[in-house]
Amino acid sequence: MSPFLLTRTLPEDATEAALRADVLKGLTHTPKTLPPKWFYDARGSELFEQITELPEYYPTRAEREILVARSGEIAAATGARTLVELGSGSSEKTRYLLDALTGLHTYVPVDVSESALTQAGHALIAQRPELSVHALIADFTGGLSLPGTPGPRLLAFLGGTIGNLLPVERAAFLASVHALLSPGDALLLGTDLVKDENVLVRAYDDAAGVTAEFNKNVLTVVNRELGADFDPGAFDHVALWDAENEWIEMRLRSRTEQTVKVPALDLAVDFAADEELHTEISAKFRKEGIRAELAAVGLELAHWWTDSEGRFALSLSVVR
Ligand code: SAH
Ligand code: TRP
Repeated sequence: MSPFLLTRTLPEDATEAALRADVLKGLTHTPKTLPPKWFYDARGSELFEQITELPEYYPTRAEREILVARSGEIAAATGARTLVELGSGSSEKTRYLLDALTGLHTYVPVDVSESALTQAGHALIAQRPELSVHALIADFTGGLSLPGTPGPRLLAFLGGTIGNLLPVERAAFLASVHALLSPGDALLLGTDLVKDENVLVRAYDDAAGVTAEFNKNVLTVVNRELGADFDPGAFDHVALWDAENEWIEMRLRSRTEQTVKVPALDLAVDFAADEELHTEISAKFRKEGIRAELAAVGLELAHWWTDSEGRFALSLSVVR
């Protein structure tokens, strides 16, 4: 029997309190914003899995290619007995690491999406009955504490999800990651790289409209949780490349002048025609920038691997 433990460090009512606070702050801010972690309810997680299979969305395939080629080296370099994965989602690509890490004792997937953790957990139990899985429902930006499992630890953060944090949030996040690790532990980080603008924009504005639906799902979450009356059809999905910041910016543009009510916050929000609600960024990186951001928190870049087309990078850093 494979032990599967699911621990919630995010109390259910804290989730709602945090959502209220974020929505109130975001919708009364100029420009209006909604923070990205609320994309991932069960429907959002399902839509993200569809995104990973789109012809335009190359990051998942590129990162998988690197993991297939390099998991053996990663295992040899780290000798990890615990694999912690932040924002683990379906854990689909993780199986290359799980296969390569022969001395692995425990896998700790961490995600805000309970549905993603439960589904991934069931698949893992079926595939690897000998592995101990301790799943955590937790916010990786909010003071994470890890179960006391054996070291060395490998902390993986895949999918380019680090690019969804703003630069200041990213620095705080990397410092908190360093604080979780001990000498001999390692960080495996997946980062999407700066490339041709058209390739980038298409990856976040696909022809089938799945990314548009994913972006609008955050409105559905606010409707369900806070009783709001957003009409997702009254907004258009926008993805644009910010060349100065080197990030993709996702927005929802109001098609008309409209007022949205959020009863749980006692709030009415006016949108002008064409006004844009900012939902998510996805920053793209360069090797020297990553090296510097890691060095700033005491992590030393030890390996840098890209896919054969140089679109995406996996880096391995060590704690001295
Ligand atoms: N690692 C997977 C999934 C990436 S999508 C892959 O590479 O395909 C990003 C994942 O991070 C989602 O599963 C989402 O639920 C999770 N996530 C987003 N913000 C989070 C946060 N603040 N804390 C924990 N998990 C978060
Ligand atoms: N981590 C993913 C990325 O930045 C998340 C993502 C993919 C996303 N497509 C999206 C987030 C569209 C918001 C909207 O690539």
